[in-house]
Amino acid sequence: MFNTAILLAAGRGERFKSRTAKPLIKLSNRPAIAYSLKALNGHPKIKEIIVVVNRLNCSGILRQIRKYKFSKVNKVVIGGKRRQDSLGSALKVLDKRAQIVLIHDAARPFLNRKVITDCLNEARRSGAAVAGVPVKATIKQAIGLKVKKTLDRSDLWEIQTPQVFRKDLILKAYNKFVRTDVTDDASLVEKMGRTVKIVSGSYFNIKITTPEDLVLAEAIAAKINDI
Ligand code: CTP
Ligand code: MG
Repeated sequence: MFNTAILLAAGRGERFKSRTAKPLIKLSNRPAIAYSLKALNGHPKIKEIIVVVNRLNCSGILRQIRKYKFSKVNKVVIGGKRRQDSLGSALKVLDKRAQIVLIHDAARPFLNRKVITDCLNEARRSGAAVAGVPVKATIKQAIGLKVKKTLDRSDLWEIQTPQVFRKDLILKAYNKFVRTDVTDDASLVEKMGRTVKIVSGSYFNIKITTPEDLVLAEAIAAKINDI
């Protein structure tokens, strides 16, 4: 199987409110993007990596790819306004041999080898697989600040990346719903009425979104570098 990984790093990091681009913030002395690239580059089943950047972080990210010798990165492309537009930039340049497409957020540095393997295997079997963890919190739906109802936590999952698809499926879903706003890739596939399978992710696979997340990310990075 020819597996392509797409690493999305073209966001503006507006909620993170930092002068340094989010993929380039240092975690235990290494830039955030180097963690996910190390996991993807070192995975024996990943054949190529496409990194999607923006005009502001492009040169900084290119520098890190060279510094750490991430040899499987064969394309770096400029993304778009929405996350799915950035995905579109990468889908356009997929290797012709690609059969499976793994999509990952650079904002999640701590993906591990097992979740990559499990998602690739499930996507090969069923077409679409996403990493997820059971929701720990009590989630309520509200109108303004007035609680409408409490959702049943037992069937709620917090969905992460990687999200992995057979190439034909993600291309079809992307093209069909190019005008619909979505926050993850699997939503496009769900809209086509296709089944998306959840693969057990990790609570360490956090997304760095707001400044508070950095405290946790530093702690996880220190632990990872320790082992
Ligand atoms: N992303 C992207 N292109 C976009 C928007 C997001 O490649 N137009 C990527 C981000 O770089 C990130 C991932 O999608 O790795 C998840 O997005 P998010 O956490 O929302 O990051 P940002 O969009 O950068 O942050 P914000 O929404 O606060 O601006
Ligand atoms: Mg965003």
